[in-house]
Amino acid sequence: MAPQTPGPVWITGASTGIGRAVALGLARQGRLVIGSARGNLDLATLAEVARGLPGRIVPLQLDVTDPGAMAAALAKIEAEHGPLAQAIFNAGSHIPMGAADFRVDKLQKLIAVNLMGAAHGLEAVLPGMLARGAGRIAVVASVAGYRGLPSAAAYSPSKAAAIAMCEALRPECAAKGVVLQVINPGFVETPLTAKNDFPMPMLISAEKAADYILAGLESDRFEIAFPRRFAFAMKLLRVLPYPLFFAVTRKLLRN
Ligand SMILES: NC(=O)c1ccc[n+]([C@@H]2O[C@H](COP(=O)([O-])OP(=O)(O)OC[C@H]3O[C@@H](n4cnc5c(N)ncnc54)[C@H](OP(=O)(O)O)[C@@H]3O)[C@@H](O)[C@H]2O)c1
Repeated sequence: MAPQTPGPVWITGASTGIGRAVALGLARQGRLVIGSARGNLDLATLAEVARGLPGRIVPLQLDVTDPGAMAAALAKIEAEHGPLAQAIFNAGSHIPMGAADFRVDKLQKLIAVNLMGAAHGLEAVLPGMLARGAGRIAVVASVAGYRGLPSAAAYSPSKAAAIAMCEALRPECAAKGVVLQVINPGFVETPLTAKNDFPMPMLISAEKAADYILAGLESDRFEIAFPRRFAFAMKLLRVLPYPLFFAVTRKLLRN
């Protein structure tokens, strides 16, 4: 029997960085990719770059912090291209924040995009996928969600909550035939990390990150974490008792 052509895949945050590289990788595999972001120009450029690839990228402009926009986007995708086969909720942002510049509005901004953006996506796609007993969802979090890291007093909690949300949903999704995965990258060279003014260990390109992600999406394992040695080190940090953990993170403080 000929293999079935997978249905459309929707990726948010597709216009730059990791999302853009993953969208192009999926189009290279022949997939129909719906690429979303707020900026229309970058999306149009992306669709143009994908021309000539076996698959196709269809731009769909939206803001993931708007729940109505996410629901409307799914309705449009399914009306035009059929049932959604896969969703990758990747849109995200970073605002450094520590004790000296602690501000609730920064935290709210990152929670709105990094946590609620993915949550709005889940709310939109879960009912259909669960009813069909088929579908794949991946949420991009971060190894910075394993524990609270210096200067990430807004970013770490937004990603920790995204990981916990997926952990909570995974068993029920699996029981209904839906694969839910979490993607935890280390440092990746993108516009998001361009604002970091500190050395980023084991920094990789967005294309290399996309290779890890595309390979992980082929599997059903819960977590796709990379680069592997860096993710392993961050996992060790996660299990350290507090005195040891703070001895390490104190060293990360900048003057
Ligand atoms: N780079 C890293 O080292 C790293 C490490 C761990 C995790 N991550 C995570 O990986 C994901 C992608 O990050 P990246 O590094 O590729 O960053 P990036 O290059 O800045 O890309 C972010 C993408 O999200 C979109 N976006 C931002 N806010 C949005 C909103 N409200 N609605 C819709 N789209 C929105 C951006 O486009 P518009 O601005 O046009 O909307 C852009 O397409 C994020 O979730 C990030 O937290 C990155």
